[in-house]
Amino acid sequence: MSGFVVWFTGLSGAGKSTLGALLAAELRARGVHVEVLDGDEVRTHLSKGLGFSREDRDTNVRRIGFVAKLLARSGACAITGAISPFRAIRDEQRAAIGRFVEVYCSASIDALAERDPKGLYRKALAGEIKGFTGIDDPYEPPASPEVTVSTDRESKEESLAKIVGKLEELGFVPRRASVLTKTTATSLVPPHGGELVIRRAPFDGREGEERACSLPVIDLDAEGEIDLALLAQGALSPLKGFMGSKDWLRVAREMRLENGLPWPSLVTLPASEEVARAAQVRGEAALRTRDREIVAILEVSDVYRAEDLVRGRELTGPLGADDPEITRQLRRGPFLIGGEVQVFARPLSLATPFEHAPHATRAIFAERGYTRVAALRARSIPRRAEEHLGRLALDLTGALWIQALGDVEDRDPRSDLKRGLYNHLLGSFPSGRVLLSEGFEVRRSGARRAVLDAIISQNHGASHAVITLSAEDGGASGAERAFRVYAPGELGVTPLCIEEPFYSTTVNAMATERSAPGDASTRITATDAEIFDMIRRGETPPPEILRPEVARELHAWYERLKG
Ligand code: ADX
Repeated sequence: MSGFVVWFTGLSGAGKSTLGALLAAELRARGVHVEVLDGDEVRTHLSKGLGFSREDRDTNVRRIGFVAKLLARSGACAITGAISPFRAIRDEQRAAIGRFVEVYCSASIDALAERDPKGLYRKALAGEIKGFTGIDDPYEPPASPEVTVSTDRESKEESLAKIVGKLEELGFVPRRASVLTKTTATSLVPPHGGELVIRRAPFDGREGEERACSLPVIDLDAEGEIDLALLAQGALSPLKGFMGSKDWLRVAREMRLENGLPWPSLVTLPASEEVARAAQVRGEAALRTRDREIVAILEVSDVYRAEDLVRGRELTGPLGADDPEITRQLRRGPFLIGGEVQVFARPLSLATPFEHAPHATRAIFAERGYTRVAALRARSIPRRAEEHLGRLALDLTGALWIQALGDVEDRDPRSDLKRGLYNHLLGSFPSGRVLLSEGFEVRRSGARRAVLDAIISQNHGASHAVITLSAEDGGASGAERAFRVYAPGELGVTPLCIEEPFYSTTVNAMATERSAPGDASTRITATDAEIFDMIRRGETPPPEILRPEVARELHAWYERLKG
């Protein structure tokens, strides 16, 4: 990927910083690695001590140009935001940098003097500041900038759209699929990386089987089946397949993809040495489920061993050296195979009415007029705790998407049961504000999983994600720490990190460790396993833990199971 520079120029207060920040967020959401060299900020370090003489301004602009060039050379998009009043010096930067997009922020002096957020125009006009650009110091507008935005007449969104449009036209950033711009531009948060990447094959199952029949076969494990199902749907956008070694290393070390986009968890495909070698030689492989059905074709781009990547080096990611997810992944293998997938049959059998792929939830949210939606990826049966989390989220956003997660290993009737149980919960919320779907547990652990949950939620159209982590995984503060790996705005989704709720006898309400005093003896709560044990013993979990109608359904289910 080749870098480039977006060079904002224009008078003080014309919108260079504002548009620069908006552009940075938009490009980051599309997977572009962005660095911003804001005019005012640069003057606090890189150009500290420089004044506003012509000479000093030229030095300032040349320094910014020099750093921007280095950033572009290493593949980043550098956004600069100095007034840079002199045409010749800007053109000098253009010639040195090459991939250079000049954005002229134009606004009339009257409009700027009226806006005057720093009060500088007033002072300059009163003669208290000498040599102020646009008042008594020259500003030379660009002769033929790539983009001109008139910030005294256009909205920020209009100006941003012009700039992004130009970058797309130049081929510097990928275009967004037109369908998506329609649904996302209006209201919903865009998918992670900017567009839904759906890895469904452009051919049907029969053709898929024909194509796959002579290929080496890779057997998926439970984790692989789930990941493949999520890739097929677009839930892991913008991933196109299983990770190669470069993504592996950067995700492990920095929780970012090789291209810099935030990504918390490894998505890997293990294989034996024999299969891995065969796949590498052939360049393609067929992926087979545990039910021995061939469901996808993998275009092999990389074959590697995780231990070779880390050998002799210390692997400490942002969550520390004892990150359980990395320890687990280091044991995956012996060989890992990276490559893009094309999925032509369902890797997992899901009950249809409940399953909602990202494009489907997005369509439903858009139709219902939701703009802010909180996602609750619910692992437990619907306890009072889940209900409380849903209610908190609804209070904040006004719309809730519950995804009841099942586990593929869990082939007992419990998954079916869960669906029925969650329907009871729906009745306790105002109608039209909640959508219930089903999904599969991603089989990741710790705080990295929390971030993955948030990204999957975002891909489904959720602006917010309710995140709880068990105490062993660090609780709410552990989750918050993981999200802080990224700069504000790098993720399109806002995490709502909450401690696991319980019923507090101290305050006689649902609460968390952060919101109610009292020790463990004042907390009424139970895990799924404990609840199932009570049901098996013929006991009814207290209403502080479970709604009576949910408990009744559990008893009825257990009777059916026995009978
Ligand atoms: S440049 O001319 O060297 O490109 P730069 O963008 O770094 O200017 O700094 C401009 C900012 O410095 C303005 O937004 C304003 O806040 C402040 N400033 C202070 N004195 C002046 C001045 N004489 N002319 C322009 N800006 C000034």
